[in-house]
Amino acid sequence: MAAVLDEADGVPQHMRVVEATGRSIRLNVWRGDAAGGSMVGYDVPVQEGMVVLDAVLWVQQHLSGDLAVRWNCKAAKCGSCSAEVDGFPRLMCKSRLDEYGSEVSVRPMQTFPVVRDLVTDVSWNYEINRQIPPFTPTQADLEDPEPWRMQQQDVDRMIEFRKCIECFLCQDVCHVLRNHGRQDAYYGPRFMIRMATLEMHPKDSLDRRPMLKGSAGVGMCNITKCCQDVCPEHIHITDNAIIPLKERMADEYFDPVRALARKAGLSTGRKRRKVTSIKDV
Ligand code: SF4
Ligand code: SF4
Ligand code: FES
Repeated sequence: MAAVLDEADGVPQHMRVVEATGRSIRLNVWRGDAAGGSMVGYDVPVQEGMVVLDAVLWVQQHLSGDLAVRWNCKAAKCGSCSAEVDGFPRLMCKSRLDEYGSEVSVRPMQTFPVVRDLVTDVSWNYEINRQIPPFTPTQADLEDPEPWRMQQQDVDRMIEFRKCIECFLCQDVCHVLRNHGRQDAYYGPRFMIRMATLEMHPKDSLDRRPMLKGSAGVGMCNITKCCQDVCPEHIHITDNAIIPLKERMADEYFDPVRALARKAGLSTGRKRRKVTSIKDV
């Protein structure tokens, strides 16, 4: 879409704003679709407190109405506006323009197929989510008339994991998915968070360790912590979720003492129902 011109003198209206504030930024946005695309530069007037999403929406409103961008809350809570800002996975609504110089680039997340411009197809994540058996308490717990009691440390752990806003920035940065394309072998850090939430819940009765070792592929993670570094909710993805899950998986499958105990018919911990897919629940 062409710039809107003032009828009197033919000057683009957005340049009037630049004149008013005295500052502008060069916003380079990737434009294209699955067939290909390129960076397109726009001069955007800057006002105090603007974030990258403001600049993108300003371009959409004033210069290019067909610029595709996904967003919703503009409060860093819906997880919709994920993109790569100057090469770093970020929420556009949480990236202040004054963190950058006179030029900033915005690209769509690279791990997911592009739909158009800054919008990617993240539906694979929802397919993975559906494969994870949900929270399943025992029948006795379900029928217990008393409120469930839990240790405060268990509650705190849940609260940290439940802060996830499903922005998928961690999935975007994880090299197993991004560089090696092993979506067939690893669910990714977001879903290690979900599995940790369930596995560490004291009232959950299922055993997802076979799934962790199998289709979820926790062994593919080599604890680089890149996912943790980009999480806008500051969830300790590797420290508090992935490493404990790896330990549980190793305990079950690679601990020789436990293997001997199992052979001797001795208990090796809490009895839980094993599941390898959601159909087993
Ligand atoms: S720590 Fe594991 S899950 Fe996180 S980015 Fe690295 S390989 Fe991926
Ligand atoms: S764990 Fe963090 S980075 Fe990953 S989807 Fe959730 S909020 Fe986003
Ligand atoms: S618009 Fe909701 S997280 Fe950015």
